[in-house]
Amino acid sequence: MTQKSVYIYRLFERIWHWTQALLIFILVFTGFEVHSSYTLIGFEQAVRIHNVAAISLIILIIFAIFWHFTTGEWRQYIPTTKNLRAQVEYYITGIFRNAPHPTRKTILSKLNPLQRLVYLGLKVVLIPLMVASGLLYLFYRYSERGRIATLGTDNLEGIAVWHTIGAFLLVAFVIVHLYLITTGRTVTSNLKAMITGYEELEDENGPDQKPAETPEDAGKS
Ligand code: HEM
Repeated sequence: MTQKSVYIYRLFERIWHWTQALLIFILVFTGFEVHSSYTLIGFEQAVRIHNVAAISLIILIIFAIFWHFTTGEWRQYIPTTKNLRAQVEYYITGIFRNAPHPTRKTILSKLNPLQRLVYLGLKVVLIPLMVASGLLYLFYRYSERGRIATLGTDNLEGIAVWHTIGAFLLVAFVIVHLYLITTGRTVTSNLKAMITGYEELEDENGPDQKPAETPEDAGKS
């Protein structure tokens, strides 16, 4: 099958992705200073920057939720077991034997079955855990102690433990994510796609087909 340059990541998606990456990087960097893992910019400065980045991330998440539902892109994350095993085997052994990718990337299905599961978990479990524990941390500590205490939270320890477990999981995700972006068609093809929006994909529709604007539009063609 021939390759064709396809517009797969739209402008909002790319801005959202890179802004989220930057904010998570800042949150990890400052969060672990708050956690006393190291001292680089000082505890108070780390707390201040962590709070600003956290509120920025929450605002970004609100826009991203709106975007996912208005464009129908939320469907990309519907989990499937089809080819899941093949995808896991590919990452464990196939990739080292130069085996072909078990799934094909298309506009309607940008994520392989493993990515669908992992990104869904990120969106519905890990990010909400970080936001909820972070907000409890913020308000318990700075303003509404009484109100949070009525939720049965009478000290910060439980919240801090959940927030820190989530932070470690997010760091693990980022490390695996950085490795996996190098496993596309070429080492840099996934990275280039998230920068430019365009990626070389197998041409299933013929050479003159225009890229679809939304998954619904693509479904019509
Ligand atoms: C997006 C929502 C988030 C909010 C509202 C939030 C809020 C907070 C607050 C208020 C603190 C306590 C600061 C203090 O001691 O004064 C904190 C600590 C911390 N945050 Fe976040 N945070 C968020 C996301 C993240 C993310 C994405 C990470 C890293 C992946 C992270 C990692 C940490 C760590 C490691 C600590 C120190 C925990 C401890 O040792 O007690 N946070 N966060």
